[in-house]
Formats: sequence, C-alpha cells, structure tokens
Amino acid sequence: MSETGATQGLGSEYNPLNSPQLEDPHPFHARARREEPVFFSASLGAWVVTRHADISAVVADTARFSSAEAITVGAAAMPSEVLAVLMDGYPLVPSLVDNDPPAHTRFRSLVSKAFTGRRLAEKEPFIRTLVDELISGFQHEGQVDLFLRFAHPLTSLIIAEMLGIPRSDISSFRRWSDQLATVLAAHGPVDHQVACARGVVEFQRYLASALEEREASPREDLLSDIVSEGQGMQPPMSMAELVSLLMQVLIAGHETTAGLIAGAVEQLLRNPEQLQALRDEPGLAAAVIEEAARMTSPVTAMFRTALEEVEIGGVKIPKGAHVRIVYASANRDEARFHEPERFDVRRPDVKKHLAFGQGLHFCIGAPLARLEARIALEALIRRLPGLRLVPGLTPSFLKSVTLRRLESLEVAWDIKAP
Ligand code: HEM
Repeated sequence: MSETGATQGLGSEYNPLNSPQLEDPHPFHARARREEPVFFSASLGAWVVTRHADISAVVADTARFSSAEAITVGAAAMPSEVLAVLMDGYPLVPSLVDNDPPAHTRFRSLVSKAFTGRRLAEKEPFIRTLVDELISGFQHEGQVDLFLRFAHPLTSLIIAEMLGIPRSDISSFRRWSDQLATVLAAHGPVDHQVACARGVVEFQRYLASALEEREASPREDLLSDIVSEGQGMQPPMSMAELVSLLMQVLIAGHETTAGLIAGAVEQLLRNPEQLQALRDEPGLAAAVIEEAARMTSPVTAMFRTALEEVEIGGVKIPKGAHVRIVYASANRDEARFHEPERFDVRRPDVKKHLAFGQGLHFCIGAPLARLEARIALEALIRRLPGLRLVPGLTPSFLKSVTLRRLESLEVAWDIKAP
C-alpha cells in the first residue's frame, strides 16, 4: 500500500487536534483497530499504528525504529525569532526520549542512578504534606478547578523539590517550566513565544549555576546526584547535556502527572460504583491509578522513525517514514483488554497497559507519578466529602499531538456549616 493510496482510507478522516476527536478520540481509534489498524495520515505526515500488539512490536524493535524524532514530528517549527533567542542559551541536545542507543544508554544510566527508590521513599512525607497544604488552601471554598488549583501546582512543586530547587525560587521555576512548554509546542503569537524563549534561556542559566553549585558543595538532592554521576561518566557529561536532560525530565514529569491526577478523579466521579469501591476499600487506590492511566493515557502517542523498510501489521512502511504509536488506542484494544471501554478498578490485567511506554524508553518517572497520584487521590477522597463534578460543564482538552489531558476540572463538595 502506497502512502498516497493509504490517505484515501481512514487517514483522511484522522483529525486528533480538532472536534470531535480532540474531545473523544476513542470511537475513531476503535474503528481504526477494526478496519485499518495501520494507516497513513497526510496531515501528520506519519503512519498511525493503533493495535496493542503492533505498538508493542514497534517499541521493542529499537534497531529498526528510531526515537530521534519522538517528540518533534507534528510539532510546529520554531519561528526564527525564537531560535535567535535560544542561541544565547545552551544548545538543546537529545537526551532520553528523543535519543537512541548508545547515546541514550549514557543518559539512561545516569538518570537511573539518580532516580532511585530511596530518593522516592525520602520524598513521600514531603508529597503528603504538600497535598494536604494545597487541599487546606481551598477546602473551605466548596468548589474549585481541581486541575489549576491542585494537580498542576502539585506536580510542578514535587518535581522542583525532587531536583532540590529552594522554595524561594519555586515561582520562577513554575513560570520557566510553563515557558519551556510554550517554546517546545511553538504555538501562539510569536511575541509571546519570544518572551517565553527568553525565560527558557534564563532557566538554562539557573540550572547550570545550580549544577555548578552542587558540584562545589553536594547536597542530598537529585541535582547533586546528577552532577556527580555525570562527572563520573566517560566522557563526562557536558553542561549542555545535563541542562537538556533536566529540562526533559521536567517536561516529561509535570503535565503528564497533572493530567493523570485530573483524569483519575474525573473517571472516578463519572463512575460512582467504582468510587464507592474505593471508599469501601481504600487499599484499591493504586489499582485505581493504574486503571486511570490505562483509560486516560496522558501520553496519548509518540513517534518513531523507520530506519529501513519495515512491515507493521501487514502494511509496508518505507524507510525514513514517521510512525505514530497511539498508546491511547493500545490501552483500549479489545484484543488485549476485556470490555476496554469500562473503567474497572479491579481489572486483573491492567498492568498490560502501555500508558508509561515499554522497553528501552519505559517511563523513568512511573514510580513517582504513581506515588504522587495515589497520595493525591487518597487525600482528595478523604478530605472532600461528597466530591462531585460540577454539572453542565463540557470538558476541554489540551491541543497536543503527544499529550492528552483535561484543561480544567471543576469539582464541588459538601462543606460543613461553621
Ligand atoms: C502520568 C504520568 C506520566 C506518564 C503517562 C508518562 C508517560 C511516559 C511514556 C509513554 C514514556 C515513553 C515515551 C516513548 O515511548 O517514547 C515516558 C518516558 C519518559 N518519562 Fe514519563 N510519564 C509520566 C510521568 C513522568 C515523570 C513524573 C517523570 C520524571 C520525573 C517522567 C520522565 C520520563 C522520562 C525522562 C522519559 C524518557 C525515558 C527514556 O526515553 O529513556 N515521566 N513517559
């Protein structure tokens, strides 16, 4: 099947950034899995792969599918004014998600040493306190946008704390991380993108000076671990490599986890019998998060590039072609999951989901995301009695080719009379 021939099939109807697929892509994915599981999308310039088994095979085959363009296919090109500003900072070099072995292995081994279970366990009390502080900040209000007031600040503050960013710098850190997201997405007025690019350069300098500081006097934080591990590598990691790596960890770990928390709460509130199951058996919280990751797939899809002519699900893909692996579709594949559209917190094989990827690029932050989301959910259910969705609101979703998350989540609860 040729690229041009395939565009006459489902590819011409594939429109993940616009209504109705933006709000609900699942009926289209189900049709694709049935009728044309691998098709070419001219608008994305990529072959779209929708079945669990095919996606699993693609990610396992790192010799023939490169990740070098994993996050750049389909993104708008950065305007020249933005590139000019970025020239003043450190070059953005490939590190983890957009890299292949052997360069990928170098970064991966560094981060794996820094992202240990011990560091995570140490942070658990901090996460619990922060969750409680944030809830205390709005508990008396009775209604709130849970994404803006809780999930988004929570996940950015946690990643800042993990890295070792002091509280006094956290507001700049949050501004920079939003600016970085804007620059990478390359959307919106150019003036705004340029202002954000200046923020990114400031951010890079901030990270570089924090790394230098840790090199001179190490502390008990991730920045110190990364700089000391990086120094010990052969050849040692350059400052540009370390700064790029840190920015990628930040981007990978912030919005995704915020999306998972908001998505998990939404799923529970739309499925009262499942919420009741959790209330009756609080130990189910980890399973709820896993099932929410499957159902919501915050990283909706990633890209690979075919390094030679390959066949996926019986379809020939030419050398050099881009391949879009739709994790959100794999996670609802009826050939993999029984009644995949059902949110079922007791699903026995939920761990077969691909929401955190698989293989070489498996999400390094999955244990952190799971921990944050579980603690958040337990506290919300415990502290906000009668938690419910505010009726009559239509959920809106972020426009992105890789991320899929709610833009807001209005919820209400019962407040006790004084
Ligand atoms: C619910 C939250 C999250 C989801 C759904 C998620 C999802 C994913 C997925 C699907 C991949 C694989 C990408 C691919 O196949 O190319 C990935 C990789 C990655 N994730 Fe996550 N992630 C989450 C949270 C986090 C957190 C909290 C961090 C860090 C603090 C993080 C850091 C990374 C990194 C660094 C990679 C690249 C790993 C590599 O390429 O070797 N993620 N994530």
